[in-house]
Amino acid sequence: HTDRILAPSLLAADWGRVTEEVTRAINSGADWLHLDVMDGHFVDNISFGPQMIQAIHESTDIFLDVHLMISRPDHYLPRFLACGANMITVHVEADHNVAHTLAEIRKAGVLAGLALNPATPFEEVVPHLAHIDLLLPMTVIPGFGGQAFMEDMMRKVEAAAAYREAHGLEFHIEVDGGVNPTTAAIAAKAGANVLVAGSSAFGATDMKAAITAMREA
Ligand code: DX5
Ligand code: ZN
Repeated sequence: HTDRILAPSLLAADWGRVTEEVTRAINSGADWLHLDVMDGHFVDNISFGPQMIQAIHESTDIFLDVHLMISRPDHYLPRFLACGANMITVHVEADHNVAHTLAEIRKAGVLAGLALNPATPFEEVVPHLAHIDLLLPMTVIPGFGGQAFMEDMMRKVEAAAAYREAHGLEFHIEVDGGVNPTTAAIAAKAGANVLVAGSSAFGATDMKAAITAMREA
């Protein structure tokens, strides 16, 4: 299963040793680093912003997968486009012109992702599927790590994979929330190829074994 992209989420790292934690993820076989940006408004938690991402960008070459859980992605977009992000994922539920934000991300030479919350139907993202590089059907209610994987969301993963096939499109399908070796297998079977893992990756004593297990399960 070398086709799976493993993306540990920094949210679950030891923030007193951020650069060492990023190095630990890279040495453990991480393909991408997932960066959860939370504004205390779109979700009930506050994490970090573009300055943190810039610092990580300057200390490593790993692909930076930025997940914006913020209410006004359009307002903050110039700052996130300038901090070294390789992929910027915005939520369809946020307060912005989604098509315009996605176009702006691509215009800047950054890959564009679109996320949807568990309560949001797949139909809401359909108009945008021809204009994205990644779709993220959330497998938990966003805001916190360590929650249980919502297996019901595999219906959206399957619908996205079927739509992509029927329309000759090429976007990645990512899952985020509650991913561990058991749920990684379920998500991959449904059609997801990018697996975000917070607690099951950074929380593992042997992160390399954890990542390998999620890649091969
Ligand atoms: C949830 C975040 C996730 C989170 C995943 O709001 O978007 O990326 O860090 O954490 P785990 O893997 O612990 O569910
Ligand atoms: Zn995330």
